[in-house]
Amino acid sequence: MCGIVGYVGPRQAAPILMEGLRRMEYRGYDSAGIAILDDGELVIRKAAGKLGILAQELVGAEPQGTTGIGHTRWATHGAPTTPNAHPHTDRSGRIALIHNGIIENATAIRKTLLARGHEFISETDTEVLAHLVGAFYEGNLEEAVASALRDVDGAYGICVISADEPDVLVVARNGSPIILGIGDGENLVASDQSALVEHTRSVVYLDNGEMAILTPDGYRVRTLTSRHVDKPINQIEWDLATIERGGFEHFMLKEIFEQPESLENTMRGHLLEESGNVRVYGLKMDDEQAKAVKRIIITACGTSWHSALIGKYMIEELARIPTEVEYASEFRYRNPIVDKDTLVIAISQSGETADTLAALLEAKRRGASTLGLVNVVGSTIAREVDGGLYLRCGPEIGVASTKAFTSQVAALAMVTLRFARLKDMSLLEGQEYVRAMMKLPSQIQEILERADELESLAESFKDSTNALYLGRGVNFPAALEGALKLKEISYIHAEGYPAAEMKHGPIALIDENMPVVVVAPRDAVHGKIVSNIQEVRARGGRVIAIVNAGDEEISQLAEATFIVPETLDLLTPILTVIPLQLFSYYVAVARGCNVDQPRNLAKSVTVE
Ligand code: AGP
Repeated sequence: MCGIVGYVGPRQAAPILMEGLRRMEYRGYDSAGIAILDDGELVIRKAAGKLGILAQELVGAEPQGTTGIGHTRWATHGAPTTPNAHPHTDRSGRIALIHNGIIENATAIRKTLLARGHEFISETDTEVLAHLVGAFYEGNLEEAVASALRDVDGAYGICVISADEPDVLVVARNGSPIILGIGDGENLVASDQSALVEHTRSVVYLDNGEMAILTPDGYRVRTLTSRHVDKPINQIEWDLATIERGGFEHFMLKEIFEQPESLENTMRGHLLEESGNVRVYGLKMDDEQAKAVKRIIITACGTSWHSALIGKYMIEELARIPTEVEYASEFRYRNPIVDKDTLVIAISQSGETADTLAALLEAKRRGASTLGLVNVVGSTIAREVDGGLYLRCGPEIGVASTKAFTSQVAALAMVTLRFARLKDMSLLEGQEYVRAMMKLPSQIQEILERADELESLAESFKDSTNALYLGRGVNFPAALEGALKLKEISYIHAEGYPAAEMKHGPIALIDENMPVVVVAPRDAVHGKIVSNIQEVRARGGRVIAIVNAGDEEISQLAEATFIVPETLDLLTPILTVIPLQLFSYYVAVARGCNVDQPRNLAKSVTVE
């Protein structure tokens, strides 16, 4: 996620900004920049890539000045290039602005400004906002920012300076955090407490719709319509390490709890309720091209391969297109049948997994058209595909993938709708899916509020040596994912299996020491999975069942149950996976494992 930092006071701003950006590196970014007011001039330095590249450019040429702003950018649209890096300036080049969030009506504003002779050098919505502030500027930066923001729709956290108003920072918040750091004879601003805590623990949290004007001697908070606002000064209690995890003990837990927001971000701007459809420009596939797809192959690794399996169920059920799922490491060395009517979809959180990239290149060589469902903007896989959809779930730091999985499944649901509504899916069915997807973030939140149930459940299973995860239909991949989560962070051997398949061997493993986790929402195969649970119980197996409310039948059979809200059958894995993520997390913590960096594992396997 992007990082914002600003300083105004007696000290040189550049080193303070750079250290502040370094404190926020953990959030993930792909370019960085600073702007400093140096004796009436605005000096900007920015670079694509990691902060070290920018720092290298400053060696021996550090801008002098005591007012400045700095930014690390996580590209959500517009490649991670130097021209797209923040800060951006207005037309005059005397106002600089940095921004977190998305300006929804940036395209319309850009058109208006272009018609008035403005010229843009980047693809970003941020540059449009900088030009809009400049267009309103008549000698008062605070009022120019307020006027510009009254024309803006969308989420933002911004920080603005002007060469004509030294010693002034103007900030505003609507959806993206902005925190004021109150110092002695100096003031700071940041999007994350980690950038402030070494200078001051006295902070003021802006709320949505508020602005602040900071000078070395003080600060003032107001609304866009200029009403003064009194704000309390809070004290930062956390240490730096805890701040970086947002108060969570591990990044993995933080990312599990981010899923309502990350899923919202994945779907933002794509769901069309009225037409029961989706709008995903990134697929770069018009209706004729979509109708021409005769076969789909989805290729991925690990957790991404599990989401691919769910995609198969969705696409074949709703779009009636034959879909195969291939381990990328197998696909790349087989002699797969791929031709121009084959669409190959590569799924990858990192966009750098070597096997997935190799499989993608092999598919392209054989003439397939390709799509990517990728989280990291500008990653290798994202650049190799013909089109695709960015997950936009923010950087995933924990090695065990969680929020990327639910975002991948949502992305696959959107791709499915794209095809299905060109085929037999009716408007009403399309609307039903769109409405069900719009409800998912709040339903995940409802599950997260009962996380403590899983923490206590984990305690009684932490000494297990094996576990079996069972699911049917689209929840068989959810069972696979639950098993992978448990084994990769707690080191307990766990296997996912189609529930009915258990009779063909694994049932020999069942005894009173074997926890059997059954994913059993009230879907089309619910009755069948009840029989499987009975078979497990008949052999003394300890059953933990993920169920919907009111499922008395399974509650009678299982040692423990966890309730998830109801949704459409094909969307249930987005909900059933949450307790599986939490269960594996709490078991791993109870076993004292290194949850964020499990042994032997890397976050992105960029080698064969
Ligand atoms: C999942 O928890 C693991 N970290 C791993 O299986 C991962 O999903 C796999 O390596 C694929 O990574 P990618 O999505 O970045 O391609």
